[in-house]
Amino acid sequence: MSERRLSGKVALVTGGASGIGEATVKALAAEGAAVAVLDRDAPGAERVVSEVERAGGAAAAVWVDLADTASIPAAVAKVLAEQRRIDILVNAAGVVGEGDTLLGLSEENWDRVQTINLKAPFLLMQQVARHMVERGGGGRIVNVSSSSAFRSRNSVPSYGSSKAGLVQLTRGAAAELAPHDINVNAVAPGVTKTPLLSFLDEERLQQMVSEGALANLFKRPSEPEDIAATILFLCLPASRQITAQTLHVSAGAVV
Ligand SMILES: NC(=O)c1ccc[n+]([C@@H]2O[C@H](COP(=O)([O-])OP(=O)(O)OC[C@H]3O[C@@H](n4cnc5c(N)ncnc54)[C@H](O)[C@@H]3O)[C@@H](O)[C@H]2O)c1
Repeated sequence: MSERRLSGKVALVTGGASGIGEATVKALAAEGAAVAVLDRDAPGAERVVSEVERAGGAAAAVWVDLADTASIPAAVAKVLAEQRRIDILVNAAGVVGEGDTLLGLSEENWDRVQTINLKAPFLLMQQVARHMVERGGGGRIVNVSSSSAFRSRNSVPSYGSSKAGLVQLTRGAAAELAPHDINVNAVAPGVTKTPLLSFLDEERLQQMVSEGALANLFKRPSEPEDIAATILFLCLPASRQITAQTLHVSAGAVV
């Protein structure tokens, strides 16, 4: 077996109990990283941890509800107390807003989406980057944005603007953290087959990627592993010259 490329590294992945976050946890663990799975879904996080351990990897579940931003410092502190270091942060947790149209969205739902999708990643980046800077030796941060940050049609204002905010937060943080050898990037998935879209049946999903605002060039949805592979790449030494970027993993849906 070839040498695992993240041996000795510690990763923290939010939203690691499902979908893209889960696939990312497994991809990082398969490369030897010890992974903290932060999620509000405790049984889901425990399931992912068991699956990682059965595959010979190391992971631990940390319960946190990112809507309660005051609980974020304690969650990061728990990982540091157990692992002594964090080398990689992946902000994958995210939610879509109910009734997310300009005319229909409530202020409460706007706030909920912005808090989970944008404010929580900011606070996590701040906490983790402070540790990385103090420890020295660099680090990697990857934020999961969305092709919804780049479209007009089907714009979902709260979700789309939270994901656009994440792109700019990524750029600014990359510039600020570059002197500390910390790479900060984002990925922007298109339609991806995860529980987030479980309200769509197979036929509707296929139609969505074939025609209309969300269509892509291959007319097929992404799998969570497609996104995780790009996130993994952004955590490997091979991508050391990439920072402040948003990589689109959407089969050309956004050009
Ligand atoms: N699926 C898609 O088509 C798609 C497209 C573009 C971007 N994305 C983004 O990818 C990311 C992952 O989404 P997914 O499709 O894998 O969805 P998912 O629903 O499968 O996973 C999201 C995870 O985030 C966790 N989470 C949500 N709110 C939380 C909170 N308040 N506190 C802690 N954990 C919380 C959930 O419990 C879940 O485990 C999200 O940021 C999403 O916006 C998804």
